[in-house]
Amino acid sequence: MNEREFFPRVKPHWTLLYVLRNVLGFTGVKRGCELGDCGSCTVLLNGNPVPSCLLLTVEARDAHILTIEGLAKNGNLHPLQKSFIHHGAVQCGYCTPGMILSACSLIQKHPHPAVDEIRQALSGNLCRCTGYAKILQAVQDYSSFQEGRQEGIANGQPPIASGFAVVGKPVPRKDALEKVTGSVRYAGDLFFPGMLFGKVLRSPVPHAKILAIHTEEARKLPGVRAIITAKDVPDVPYGVSPARYDETIFAIDRVRYVGDKIAAVAAEDEETAEKALEWIRVDFEPLPAVFDPFSAMKVDAPQLHEKYPKNINTEIHQNFGDVEKGFVEADYIREDSFEGNRTMQSPLEPHAAVVQWGKDGVLTVWTSNQSPHYVQYQLSRVYSLPMGKIRVIQTATGGGFGGKAEATVLELAGATLSKLTGAPVQMSFSRKEMFLHGRGRHKQYLTFKTGVKRDGTITAVQETAILDGGAYTGYGITTAYYSGCLMPLLYRLKNFRLDAYRVYTNLPPCGAQRGNGAPQPRWAFEVHLNRIARDLGLDPVEIRLKNATGPYEKTCNEFQILTNGYKECLKKVREISGWEEKRSKLPPGKGMGISGGGFVSGAGYPIYRSNFPHSNVYIKVAEDGSSATLFTSAPEIGQGSTTVLAQIAAEAMGIRYEDVYVQTCDTFLTPVDLGAYSSRITLMTGNAVKQAGEKILQLLLPIASEKLQEPLEALAVTDRKIFPRHHPEKFIPWEDAVKEYFDRFGPLVAEGHYNPPKLGGTFKGAAVGTSPTYSFCAIVAEVEVNFTTGKVKVVKFYNAHDSGTVINPVTFQGQVEGSCVMLMGEALMEEVQFKDGVPLNANLRDYFIPTIGDAPEVVSASVGLPDPAGPFGAKEVGEGSAVAVLGAIADAVEDAIRAPISSLPITPEKILLALRRNENQ
Ligand code: FES
Repeated sequence: MNEREFFPRVKPHWTLLYVLRNVLGFTGVKRGCELGDCGSCTVLLNGNPVPSCLLLTVEARDAHILTIEGLAKNGNLHPLQKSFIHHGAVQCGYCTPGMILSACSLIQKHPHPAVDEIRQALSGNLCRCTGYAKILQAVQDYSSFQEGRQEGIANGQPPIASGFAVVGKPVPRKDALEKVTGSVRYAGDLFFPGMLFGKVLRSPVPHAKILAIHTEEARKLPGVRAIITAKDVPDVPYGVSPARYDETIFAIDRVRYVGDKIAAVAAEDEETAEKALEWIRVDFEPLPAVFDPFSAMKVDAPQLHEKYPKNINTEIHQNFGDVEKGFVEADYIREDSFEGNRTMQSPLEPHAAVVQWGKDGVLTVWTSNQSPHYVQYQLSRVYSLPMGKIRVIQTATGGGFGGKAEATVLELAGATLSKLTGAPVQMSFSRKEMFLHGRGRHKQYLTFKTGVKRDGTITAVQETAILDGGAYTGYGITTAYYSGCLMPLLYRLKNFRLDAYRVYTNLPPCGAQRGNGAPQPRWAFEVHLNRIARDLGLDPVEIRLKNATGPYEKTCNEFQILTNGYKECLKKVREISGWEEKRSKLPPGKGMGISGGGFVSGAGYPIYRSNFPHSNVYIKVAEDGSSATLFTSAPEIGQGSTTVLAQIAAEAMGIRYEDVYVQTCDTFLTPVDLGAYSSRITLMTGNAVKQAGEKILQLLLPIASEKLQEPLEALAVTDRKIFPRHHPEKFIPWEDAVKEYFDRFGPLVAEGHYNPPKLGGTFKGAAVGTSPTYSFCAIVAEVEVNFTTGKVKVVKFYNAHDSGTVINPVTFQGQVEGSCVMLMGEALMEEVQFKDGVPLNANLRDYFIPTIGDAPEVVSASVGLPDPAGPFGAKEVGEGSAVAVLGAIADAVEDAIRAPISSLPITPEKILLALRRNENQ
């Protein structure tokens, strides 16, 4: 194997995946689903790609096995590895080893594969981050790296932002090398001496009293070291928003959904821990259950939480302007109702954590999480430990999309298991448990009533949203507000009313999935607006342009817009898509649709009340000036934040990108940052980084001024040179100034921090949706519908995004492409289905996510102007595009079949039904 021989002692039932990872330490082989559905565990067996999770080790005896660790030879990367780095085909990196090995097998057989051959060969390897476009490019172009060409700045990728030395350049990711070689460590890849493995017992019933839990038999199992239930852990409720801490580590007396947590086991190996779960018996007294919000809101419905009558977890009534008057002024009024879908983030890496309660009293947690600060905060609350006694280290994270933004049972129960056993405990979810843990997208039931003048001017909008929340709250309060609060962002809504209800049901809790609560209401409203345009004979682009907000406006709900490129986005996609020639002019079965989008560039307020800055960093410059290290708790989860922050740091200090190293997320080393949610890092952490970099220069320039005999104001810094602007050739090297500083004053260190200004109004819920500035976007989708099968194929996306200054065009495109394809899955194929509260498709075989075969071309354009709130003018990109995808596809389908479809996902069955209805009319 990997050109070496191994003779491990294995049990007959051990899979190759288990032996490669747990016995031989080849953790570049990833565990994603253990059912052969995702391709993360792909290895080459005698040159052919196989899912190692489905193969028994004994079946691989005497075979030649290649894992990602064996691909580079003598320190030289394989051309595919170079090409993946070069093209930005790596984001979270969890799919990358399997993807590269499948591609490697293909090119060994077909050195010059056609696009369709690549799609075919990689169809078993799922990627949730990239949208596949850059993976396809990387495989197509691998041969150009065969003759010693090095990976580096992507060819054909000119800097987007002008006037900068590093900002705007398509530099390769900081973490790409370790991801293409498999050397990066995710939480599930950590193995410590004496480590135990923890597993969670979950409820098999949707609603029941717990009468007794019998653990005696399970405790007798050899290798079991601890079993804990609610009586062994603090009963302090936790959650996300302090207004709704409604979850405990384990269910106390009552389970509320299939998957609710009852107990946990720590054992010497995973197999024993799983067996122990089977030996625990629980006596239940069943209770009636509710599985949809309408039943749950009935007066006689079973109550999930006594404090919330009719199971209404969050109720919102917001009224801006005079909606009734607006309807009276309207020439035309239309009302439409929509039904969204419950979907899951489905990152390729399952949640995992290792927890060690040390003998020195320090609780150390290595976790795959988007917000290590909130993990630290909840551990502190629940265990009554000072924050300074809790060390949270974010490991490499294989995607999150909102699903890893909360503290989970892994960290919370892991702490007690470690304390009781005195050993580090590794805990991870199986793919099925990820579905049971939930926190995916809320299914929303939406009604929009809109009044317009004959020319399309909107006079009033009334929205009702009912959200199926599941059994607990998590991020749900903000999701409920996001179901409507961003509506006035794109269009001038003088008169707007929102009535929203988030309702408890006996299903897995929902949370904050990419775009939080905004994509489904945006889909519904954009489709509704297009229907209004059709009714009035108006062009959908024109009706948008007529009502679009502009720069430096305040919305009716008091959000302050700064730069606003929405109109430019609309015009751009109209131009690049050939809208005027194609919209409603394509033959039957083909269609083109449009939607707007946009999102916050960081939430204006933290999850819990605090006054400290949202982002804090410091930069330490090496004593000889050869490098600078940025310390930040902003989590890299695949989106490319580490790379973007390094570019900002380099630009601010006048040094090169490769001079900057980034130390992320270790709460003993890095200062507080609120995390990777609400698209906040580029703007908020970026501003803190820029400030720290500028402070470094403020310390250095007086020395340079003295040496050069030039006034401070005359100096400029770029490319490691400090020089007078009028005399660029008369410079001193940056490192000389640093050495001099160190000799005189000691360490060259500076901090930076960012706190948003006070934002928003004073009405109830005014804080949600506030942001220092907003991104804007427009998407046109082109689809083909097969009238025989009902299947929809998205042929192409045209995306224009106002992201302000683009810091890195490759990561920018990667976010746009990833958003488009992920949300395309939600539009067309994704939905968690239940029967009596039991999920029916809790795996990646029956819960479909897009494959490389489904991925269309994405044409993306940046149209933004530099924004005064962002570092070097930058705004967000990862969620604003996501918000627009559902509406663009749904509108394109309506254009293709000339019939309305008002529920998601748009399945072939729904298409065929709509076509039949058309025929019968
Ligand atoms: Fe493919 Fe994240 S880069 S799953």
